[in-house]
Amino acid sequence: MKLKFALFGLCTAAVSGYALAAKPVEAPGGQFAAEAEQMFLESFREDGPKEWKLRLMQDETMKTCGIYRDNPPRKIGEKLEKANKATIQYPASGKLMGNWKEGEKLAAVGTGGHIGFIQPDPPGRVKGGNCYACHQLAKKEIAYGTIGPSLQHFGKIRGNSPEMVKYAYDKIYNSNAFTACTNMPRFGLHGWITPEQIADIVAFLMDPESPVNKD
Ligand code: HEC
Repeated sequence: MKLKFALFGLCTAAVSGYALAAKPVEAPGGQFAAEAEQMFLESFREDGPKEWKLRLMQDETMKTCGIYRDNPPRKIGEKLEKANKATIQYPASGKLMGNWKEGEKLAAVGTGGHIGFIQPDPPGRVKGGNCYACHQLAKKEIAYGTIGPSLQHFGKIRGNSPEMVKYAYDKIYNSNAFTACTNMPRFGLHGWITPEQIADIVAFLMDPESPVNKD
């Protein structure tokens, strides 16, 4: 008798398990996605900087990349890249290559915009590109991450034709304009760094005198 019940229990569990698995998943995270998102939003303090609450709202690119787990069909990827390309703005001077010495500093800065209870950044603290977190650049900096390709000798290898300078500028301003769901942040899109600062970083990558190319 006991065995019969156990078998019955097992069968119902299997059937309801099947029904659950067969349900269509609307968003990443399935049935818990909305609840998880709400918990995440509420975990930010009400009195925190407004800018951060806004940054929690996903735009079309982030939503789409989430749905396709960063690997959208090419047609959809192309649409996202086009939309991101349309956001790119340039310095008023029109000069896309600035001062490599300033760019060198910005590429190494990993502070600015930190929130939290323990050591939040004071407002106005310099925000940088934190490029070394993901890229090798100047030879003398030996602490770097490898999420992105090495950019050592970038200008030496690619040259600094106007097309290449524009490519580097555009890539830093909005990386998703080239790779729809890249891991590289969109530095210019939300004004994290300014167009002039991006031009300085471009010079750090491309100027023949910069340690990226000289050493
Ligand atoms: C969180 C990691 C991350 C950070 C931070 C980051 N990148 Fe990237 N970057 C990547 C990845 C990953 C790629 C390769 C995939 C792609 O092209 O999107 C890439 C690609 C690039 C490329 C294109 C390389 C090529 O061969 O054409 C350039 C140029 C570049 N990054 C410059 C920078 C600069 C300058 C900074 C700092 C302002 C920076 N990146 C910060 C991850 C990052």
